[in-house]
Amino acid sequence: MPKMMRLDRYLTECGAGTRSEVKNLIKKGRVSVDGQPVKDNSIKLDAENAVVVLDGIQLCYEEFRYFMLNKPQGVVSATRDGLSSTVIELLEGENPKGLFPVGRLDKDTEGFLLITNDGQLGHELLSPKKHVDKKYIARVDRDLSEEEMKVFAEGVDIGDEKLTMPAEICRVDELVYEVILREGRYHQVKRMFEAFGSTVVYLKRVSMGALGLDESLAPGEYRRLTADELEALRR
Ligand code: URA
Repeated sequence: MPKMMRLDRYLTECGAGTRSEVKNLIKKGRVSVDGQPVKDNSIKLDAENAVVVLDGIQLCYEEFRYFMLNKPQGVVSATRDGLSSTVIELLEGENPKGLFPVGRLDKDTEGFLLITNDGQLGHELLSPKKHVDKKYIARVDRDLSEEEMKVFAEGVDIGDEKLTMPAEICRVDELVYEVILREGRYHQVKRMFEAFGSTVVYLKRVSMGALGLDESLAPGEYRRLTADELEALRR
């Protein structure tokens, strides 16, 4: 089934401007569809097959967009925030419409964050039933004993109704741990260590499901997922 869409909406979704800006572009004759200049912003076109050109440059319509962000500390995992800057604002030059972060990292947590406008995939990745692995590196102020690590992995009372689900924990260095969780409760990693009197002083998410953070991305940098990465995430 062709995905029919008004020209002004098409241009907005391609990031060419706001609805009123793109209407202006169309009125000025700067847009052509399938080789014909168009001045009527309400014409409908087949979004996936029409050739739409703005100022001589062909636009590319994508229904869904997927970005991997290395979230820096100090920004919030939200679409809007009255006080702090948000992860969406870091995607400079991208049309923010419909984009949201898949899950939340605390303001002081760094690392892998998927940002998309694909609600279905986002929902599936966060579904408690799907148990998608999330791997973190945590630096703490007190090492856990072998016995405590065993309890950590089996399930911890962090003050919720239920113990945490089985997790994996591995000490990678003095005061540094790799932790894999299959659920995503509020402040979960910090609360799990806190249950043993150990405070997380630095936290970074390094992977989600099959996807690892691209370490060439400095904190605050992002890139699109490749087709293979998207496929791996869906699996
Ligand atoms: N656990 C936390 O405590 N914080 C995060 O940001 C993510 C997992």
